[in-house]
Amino acid sequence: MPFYQRLGDVPRKRHIQFRENGTLLTEEVMGLEGFTGNESILYHLQSPCRVMKLDGFEQIQRQEWVPDEHAHRHFTTYGIDAGGDEITGRRLLMWNADVEISLCRPSGTMDYFFRNGEGDEVIFVHEGSGTLETIFGDVPYKDGDYIVIPRGTTYRFQPQGEQRYLVFETPGLIEIPRRYRNHYGQIMEGAPYYHRDIHPPTQLHTVREQGEFTVKVRVRDGYQTYVVDYHPFDVVGWDGYLYPWTFSIHDFEPITGRIHQPPPSHQTFAGQNFVICSFCPRKLDFDPLAVPIPYHHSNLQSEEMIYYVSGNFGSRKGVEVGSITLHPSGLPHGPQPGLAERSIGTHETHELAVMCDTFNPLKLTKFAKDLDDGKYWRSWYENAQVDAPVDGDATGAGLTSHF
Ligand SMILES: [Fe+2]
Repeated sequence: MPFYQRLGDVPRKRHIQFRENGTLLTEEVMGLEGFTGNESILYHLQSPCRVMKLDGFEQIQRQEWVPDEHAHRHFTTYGIDAGGDEITGRRLLMWNADVEISLCRPSGTMDYFFRNGEGDEVIFVHEGSGTLETIFGDVPYKDGDYIVIPRGTTYRFQPQGEQRYLVFETPGLIEIPRRYRNHYGQIMEGAPYYHRDIHPPTQLHTVREQGEFTVKVRVRDGYQTYVVDYHPFDVVGWDGYLYPWTFSIHDFEPITGRIHQPPPSHQTFAGQNFVICSFCPRKLDFDPLAVPIPYHHSNLQSEEMIYYVSGNFGSRKGVEVGSITLHPSGLPHGPQPGLAERSIGTHETHELAVMCDTFNPLKLTKFAKDLDDGKYWRSWYENAQVDAPVDGDATGAGLTSHF
């Protein structure tokens, strides 16, 4: 999506004969919006339509938890048990029609190929590294990376070390915010990242192997399993604008100001009725009268979840690596009592967090219920012991340990 890429061999022009050892290769146009959106053209040794066996279809089951009360919530996730692989290990935490947000701490590695046939994915790698092997080539990843995988990409993980992901799946597109791009698509000065920060597939491996290969495809709100008789990575070359890529949260250039910068300054990706933002270490507001902590705010049209990645949260009980706060719509939120005063004179924050704001309400799962601390809503109550994290989205200061 970000810019034109080409790997391997492609013919001189589109849609002309392209042969290997005299055999005509199979050209596949993989594109969006009915041949008018971004696309890539791939050249296969075999037809990608060849299916030797249809295996079962598994409908996705979501176990919804409808809380008895509407309240701010805090989920502690770091201690979840490892289980499944990089796909089956995704454990849905919250969702709506625009986005599904899952945690994944796989205990094993997939022995099959996967393709999301109905949505784009963003996988935030909290822990671990490895290579996402894809039909477009290898996509190396490491902790702190967002792996952006457009729908239709066949892939499998080759992980190194323990893995922990925050996963977003959406029926819409994952895009670089429009206001970061000029009329021609180039990322402009002033945007918090540039093309050099975007890492497309590095190397294409054409696998020439017959056999039986399992491909699991997410379609129609479920998983259809296919068996094919040729290795799915049989592409000799491709070019275009559609491919998986990574962007490291550590390459996000924070925008600071003399006084408070609002959450959109942290935006990293645009989704369908949601945004993903990165809160990174940075200098804080430098006006002599600045209050370097978020103001109270009401999410009149959004739900806000923040995933705490790293930082020293030690002086605030309740906040830990892997914590998630959820501030649902209809309620104001902001710093706990006394924190605005205590924040004055603070000049920097070192914490790292990922935020997702959705414009439509989120449903919760029973898995989320098990992780809910049940008391975060009390943390603004003047006489209550302050033992929960403060929202930090507006400046990031609120989630620091400086207070
Ligand atoms: Fe907020």
